Amino acid sequence: MFDEVSTHYDRTNTVLSMGNATLWRVATTRAVAPRAGEKILDVAAGTGTSSASLARNGASVVAADFSHGMIEVGRQRQAANPFISFVQADATDLPFDDDTFDAVTISFGLRNIVDPKAALAEFYRVTKPGGRVVVCEFSRPPLAPVRAGYAAYLRYGMPVLARLASSNPAAYEYLMESIEAWPSQPALAAWMREAGFDRVAWRNLTAGIVALHRGWKPLTVHAPAPEKAPALAKWTDGKPATATGARPPATKSTAGKPSAKSTAARPAAKPATTKSTAGKPAKSTTEGPAAAPQSAGTGASEDSSSAIPSEGE
Ligand SMILES: C[S@@+](CC[C@H](N)C(=O)[O-])C[C@H]1O[C@@H](n2cnc3c(N)ncnc32)[C@H](O)[C@@H]1O
Repeated sequence: MFDEVSTHYDRTNTVLSMGNATLWRVATTRAVAPRAGEKILDVAAGTGTSSASLARNGASVVAADFSHGMIEVGRQRQAANPFISFVQADATDLPFDDDTFDAVTISFGLRNIVDPKAALAEFYRVTKPGGRVVVCEFSRPPLAPVRAGYAAYLRYGMPVLARLASSNPAAYEYLMESIEAWPSQPALAAWMREAGFDRVAWRNLTAGIVALHRGWKPLTVHAPAPEKAPALAKWTDGKPATATGARPPATKSTAGKPSAKSTAARPAAKPATTKSTAGKPAKSTTEGPAAAPQSAGTGASEDSSSAIPSEGE
């Protein structure tokens, strides 16, 4: 289906979103807050419009999508951009090592993936400890009148505009159905937590027609191994102790696929330096701890443009 709409995809987006698509992209890029030298994975990147925005400050962006047609259009459009590389890949089976990316993001793609929870687990696996994930997706406006107006637009307005703007208007019927079937903001946040992300929060855009969700992969603690195991220590990691009682340091899962997949993907450690705020109420307009990027381990510091006020947690 995406191969069929690839040629006029961006133009159709602009028309159907009534110009809001650009604002949503800007907000997504701010939430990811890419920095020069960082490695960012843009999943379901389509023609790479979102990737170009992410690469603007000198981050290296891998634009992954499973549609050959979308990728081909993207490769042509972004040919002059040295910071973007396109990879044909399925979001539920990413061809990347564990702990590879500083940030993983997906815009208007998670809803299209047959098994979105499997995709979130993959996002978690390939994100570095301390790294972040940002999901931009259509969502559920909290206010009933907005919800009703939006439902009417999806049913009656959008098909008319799709006929005018798209090379394949029938494909946009699917858009309406998939938006209506998509989970609410708290439900998606719960999926992200299930996948292992910490401090998950979201921010509504355009009255909740779209929502940005963001979370962090907890830092793994690498405590130095003691010279000698304490006499009363009863803890074991299942490995034999050495003759002196010294134990090998806890190891982080390494890059290798596929064996690394099975272990490193599991949520485990809490961040070493920060307390999780998941599940706690947060202010809706200010940068609370739930919205602050984790500086330890990423070398990143908070900037106001990257904050997502959390709502409904
Ligand atoms: C609506 S487009 C979004 C494109 C782009 N992120 C944007 O914001 O313009 C959805 C994209 O998801 C891709 N997609 C759907 N399922 C996928 C999967 N399992 N793995 C990778 N890409 C997928 C489609 O090929 C399509 O390019």
